[in-house]
Amino acid sequence: MHEVRENPQAARQVFEQVAWACLHDTAYPGEAAGLRVPGKKLILAQNRCERDRMRRSEAPAADEAEFWSRYLRKYSILEKSADYRAYLDLVGRLCGAMRPGALVLDAGCGNGLFGLWILRETWQRPAPAHDSAPLVYVGLDLTQRGLADALGNHLGWRQKLHPVAKTRAAPAPGLQYFLVDFDRLDGNPAAAARLPFQEGTFDVICCSLVLSYLQRPQGLLRELHRVLRSGGTLVVSSMKPNCDLSVIYRDSIMANVTADDIEAGRNLLRAAGKIKLKEEIGYYTFFSQTELAGIVMDAGFNVFESHLSLGEQAVVIKAGK
Ligand SMILES: C[S@@+](CC[C@H](N)C(=O)[O-])C[C@H]1O[C@@H](n2cnc3c(N)ncnc32)[C@H](O)[C@@H]1O
Repeated sequence: MHEVRENPQAARQVFEQVAWACLHDTAYPGEAAGLRVPGKKLILAQNRCERDRMRRSEAPAADEAEFWSRYLRKYSILEKSADYRAYLDLVGRLCGAMRPGALVLDAGCGNGLFGLWILRETWQRPAPAHDSAPLVYVGLDLTQRGLADALGNHLGWRQKLHPVAKTRAAPAPGLQYFLVDFDRLDGNPAAAARLPFQEGTFDVICCSLVLSYLQRPQGLLRELHRVLRSGGTLVVSSMKPNCDLSVIYRDSIMANVTADDIEAGRNLLRAAGKIKLKEEIGYYTFFSQTELAGIVMDAGFNVFESHLSLGEQAVVIKAGK
């Protein structure tokens, strides 16, 4: 149902047909069916009832890692979406120019699409003669699957760069990956409840479309604040409340015409529907611009910029320490 829920007109037609089929055994006569739509009060009461029922029956997957591993399998089609590429460009631009030897943290890297963006960008620019220190990219994620895909994607790129690298002063970027569950970070001084880095390690931190899926986003934000160096940059994002995830699907369908791409787009949308359902039952939280800025400031950051991206469905914030 999530595909039609994104489109109120299509949803209404479907609901009318369902209601007609429950009441009659004749073919749906179209708009002339004369079905009455219940009042707002009744709809809201029923909605509360349904949410309670879903909350009980759709208890969150015991294993989030399994959920995300399955989701990430469908994720690579996103690279073909112009909206997603524009989103990555914005996130990358907000991260700012990287100094030689910059340390970049990608918190919740998934299959490493932001890392790919960084590799492409830093290597397409001509290296200044003094640029001899390699950039170091560190990816963190809950899933082995995401980290393995990220490593594969990044190594593929580094290999492609090898012939170019020989002609340049700068060595190829360093790559590191860690398996971490951000929901275990709770500010407790015990090492197990912290990210495995010292204070002020990173120049740039990207946390793209991750906070919404944590039970304790504040725990991660406080840790990101601790490991960012003073003067460093944090770029963080979230889908906005009531977002329309189908823009990504429509956009990739417009841009790609192969049957495989269409099927991949559909699969991604189905998976995104599950995320939306978890948001509706209150297990995930999508943040508005004000809400996201609020939790980022609560963790000690200064917020500099706030944008809408990904077909205006996601909030992106640039902050600093
Ligand atoms: C929507 S994907 C975003 C991936 C990537 N940052 C991007 O923008 O393309 C959400 C990512 O958050 C990761 N994630 C979800 N819960 C997590 C947790 N508790 N600890 C660490 N990573 C988590 C998932 O494994 C997944 O890779």
